[in-house]
Amino acid sequence: ISLKHYNTFGIDVKARFFVEITGLAQLQKILELEAYPNRFVISGGSNMLLTKDINALVMHINLKGISIVDEDEDTVEIKVMAGENWHELVLWTLDHGYGGLENLSLIPGNTGTAPIQNIGAYGVELKDVFASCVAMEVDTGELVTFDHESCNFGYRDSIFKGEAKNKYIITSVNLKLTKKNHTLNTGYGAIEGELKKVGIVYPTIRNISDAVIAIRQSKLPDPEELGNSGSFFKNPVISKKAFEKLKKAHPNVPSYQMDDNQVKIPAGWLIEQCGFKGKRKGDAGVHEKQALVLVNYGNATGKEIVELAEEIQEEVAQKFGVTLQPEVNIIR
Ligand code: EPU
Repeated sequence: ISLKHYNTFGIDVKARFFVEITGLAQLQKILELEAYPNRFVISGGSNMLLTKDINALVMHINLKGISIVDEDEDTVEIKVMAGENWHELVLWTLDHGYGGLENLSLIPGNTGTAPIQNIGAYGVELKDVFASCVAMEVDTGELVTFDHESCNFGYRDSIFKGEAKNKYIITSVNLKLTKKNHTLNTGYGAIEGELKKVGIVYPTIRNISDAVIAIRQSKLPDPEELGNSGSFFKNPVISKKAFEKLKKAHPNVPSYQMDDNQVKIPAGWLIEQCGFKGKRKGDAGVHEKQALVLVNYGNATGKEIVELAEEIQEEVAQKFGVTLQPEVNIIR
């Protein structure tokens, strides 16, 4: 079967075998089957670039359900099954008046994959609301709980990209949200600007979500219309010393101070400066409104996107001496 509709880049590769996972017992049984030693997990397919047919049993994680597991006057902890669409979850929390996810509105993908890359946007990361997650160990079929600390969250990073990679399948995620006295994160320039534009001085969590949705829609392509995987690269973090050198040669370089020794540079700026914004090679391209986003205009292959990405990496390295690391999981 074609996986075109199971990855947001819309890459047309085939799966040798395919199964829809709707229950934990079913998942456990399938992991025991010796007939399918090669397995490949796909969920929202929003953070991967497929470059070839998958000669394995592709398991589409479609576990559903949202429930409240704990609450007091001020906070609530919810358990969300891995196959729940992330943005639909955000809307569900807003409908219930729960705060914490509003800045993370409209991020493509499913809840189960959110911890893997510690999704983040507009000043908030998943780790800020994460309580724990449950994952099935592939080798044993056992369910293991990962608390906040054991996830080793970093910028677009977690244990699931490191030592736990391919060893676990996340089945559910618990999030801790607020019922009142919400912490509003409006410090990100773009949000302030958007709220001002619509004349809101004391925003609600819903107002913030609406602002984030408006900002994202204005520059990020909708995967339904134009295949993409959000930011293709991470924003590089360089030493203060390297930054000072860079700034001398390029006085306009935007930056964000991480701590005393580290500075984050927007990769989109570096890529735009190299002349790639809006550039197109066949059906692979660099989005015209956000240079950090690579897009599939229709029939690009994963290889063509990778080639474009490599060309970008080379030019950025040559011009700025900065290495861009892919944020997207490239399946080679
Ligand atoms: N910029 C340019 N040209 C571009 C794009 C960006 O010059 O074409 C510069 C501008 O100076 C702009 C700055 O980059 O002010 C930051 O741009 P933006 O606010 O769009 O954010 P970003 O750094 O490009 C990151 C995340 C996004 C997230 C936004 C908002 C990463 C890799 N990306 O992008 O996350 O939505 O911030 O918080 O950290 C994703 O991970 O898929 C994703 C979309």
